[in-house]
Amino acid sequence: MSIISSNIKKAVGLLNQDKIIAIPTETVYGLAGNAFSETAIKSIFLLKQRPFFNPLIIHIKSKEYLHQVAKDIPENALKLAAVFWPGPLTMVLNKQANIPDLVTAGKPTVGVRMPDHPVALELLESLNYPLAAPSANPFGCISPTKSIHVADYFKSGLEMVLEGGSCSRGIESTIVGFKDNKTIIYRFGSIAVEEIEAIVGEVFYITKDDTAPEAPGMLTKHYAPKTKTFLTENVSQLLTENQGKKIGLILFDGKLDLKNTSEKIILSKNSNLLEAASNLYEAMHYLDKKNLDIIIAEKMPDVGVGKSINDRLERATK
Ligand code: TXA
Ligand code: MG
Repeated sequence: MSIISSNIKKAVGLLNQDKIIAIPTETVYGLAGNAFSETAIKSIFLLKQRPFFNPLIIHIKSKEYLHQVAKDIPENALKLAAVFWPGPLTMVLNKQANIPDLVTAGKPTVGVRMPDHPVALELLESLNYPLAAPSANPFGCISPTKSIHVADYFKSGLEMVLEGGSCSRGIESTIVGFKDNKTIIYRFGSIAVEEIEAIVGEVFYITKDDTAPEAPGMLTKHYAPKTKTFLTENVSQLLTENQGKKIGLILFDGKLDLKNTSEKIILSKNSNLLEAASNLYEAMHYLDKKNLDIIIAEKMPDVGVGKSINDRLERATK
């Protein structure tokens, strides 16, 4: 019997018993548990095989609820919440004492966001606690954007995947923090940096740190298909260099004139970066199952969400 179900009551029942379930969000599916339950949080880390030093994001039901989990909230954080919540923006803020150290990996800060997905919000409204949830993939694997991706990953150990359709955004939330009145980007994501700068002015970056990651979504090897993957601005040249191999192509808008018979996925025929983002992980999941020798991905225009797609593709090559 499939573990995929649309039964919200069942989801609530499992969560109330400190069990974990997969939930849909607008970015990717998450492996969710009661953020105040150490039992549930431990189960998340174990099932995902995630190192305990890598903290979880807390998902809340409303903007007002932010004050229950975070304190000393800077003015810019409130401005960003007003504009982007519900939505794919995670903010790293000082945590309230009630947030278990397990969730934050012992840090004094907590990552928080209000997801923009009707099923996730209906679920959160039915609970009297927020949900801690990392992306619902085993550590280091491609994030899931469909319920079937999650069910395929966790054939045992997970009782339920709450159905929510295909994730509309398709890549993870953008993560920001605040230090000395500066806004810092920790992870590129579904909200473009330019959109954030329009609200708070110039931003700063801490997005790659392999030794002591501020936000380990930055660990260099992440989001990786098992098939060896290349990212290039010159697809034709790489195709020539790899003649005779079974090749999967991930292309932006298919406007390149390529004479080949490779397995080919066009992310957005209309050259729309948001559409390309929403199709990216599905393309990686699909090609990774095709027994190919290599995957060649075309570099996206480096603006807006294109930067976030390039960031994920870059990590997929490591
Ligand atoms: O879109 C998303 O953000 C998805 C959906 C499910 O909400 N979640 C997600 O979670 O991508 P995860 O755990 O795969 O990535 C969260 C990132 C991790 O890199 C973690 O290190 C960082 O957020 N993070 C969480 N709390 C943090 C904190 N207090 N300080 C710095 N980074 C933090
Ligand atoms: Mg993740």
